[in-house]
Amino acid sequence: MSTLSSPEILRRTGGHPVKSIVFDGATIAARVAELGAEITAAYPDGDLLVLGLLKGSFIFLSDLVRTIQRPIQVDFLMASSYADGKVSSGTVRLVYDPETRLEGKHILLVEDIIDTGRTLQRLMGLLAARRPRSLAVCALLDKELATEIRRDVKFVGFRAPPAFLVGYGLDHAENFRHLPFIADLE
Ligand code: IMP
Ligand code: MG
Repeated sequence: MSTLSSPEILRRTGGHPVKSIVFDGATIAARVAELGAEITAAYPDGDLLVLGLLKGSFIFLSDLVRTIQRPIQVDFLMASSYADGKVSSGTVRLVYDPETRLEGKHILLVEDIIDTGRTLQRLMGLLAARRPRSLAVCALLDKELATEIRRDVKFVGFRAPPAFLVGYGLDHAENFRHLPFIADLE
């Protein structure tokens, strides 16, 4: 892994320094493969719809689905919870709703990071009303602040430190999603 002030990193961030790399690409890939094996083993029968929560889950989802060794379908859901900054507003707005029928299917909602859990709590209510066979969450990162939705979070990649993280899909004001690692911004 390159040093944090390496030209390679600064070229990607536009000169914005990175305080630390919290999870590097190889560490993420190894954990994603484990999650894929856990998910494969957890769903022996029935239709499984993997529902990626946009935009933050897009890289995680694309890596994760390729490690799942059973038939699945993939769709997306887009909610908007943060305006432009680092602080949760607490309101969730549905911007894109999946076309796919959820009734009778196992639904696995894939999220980048759980902070307060408000986004998920609101979405789980909406999805449960569509009578899926089961409804569970797979989150790459979990800050472990949320309590109400705890029982539905069946798969977690990493426990996240209480910092603002970017990269591997996670953004700050839409920037840094493309970094091939998860970093704590300066
Ligand atoms: P919650 O509703 O408070 O759980 O917030 C979850 C959403 O906020 C995630 O889907 C992310 O889009 C965003 N978020 C929370 N923490 C971070 C972070 O450290 N970095 C980037 N986005 C975050
Ligand atoms: Mg975001």
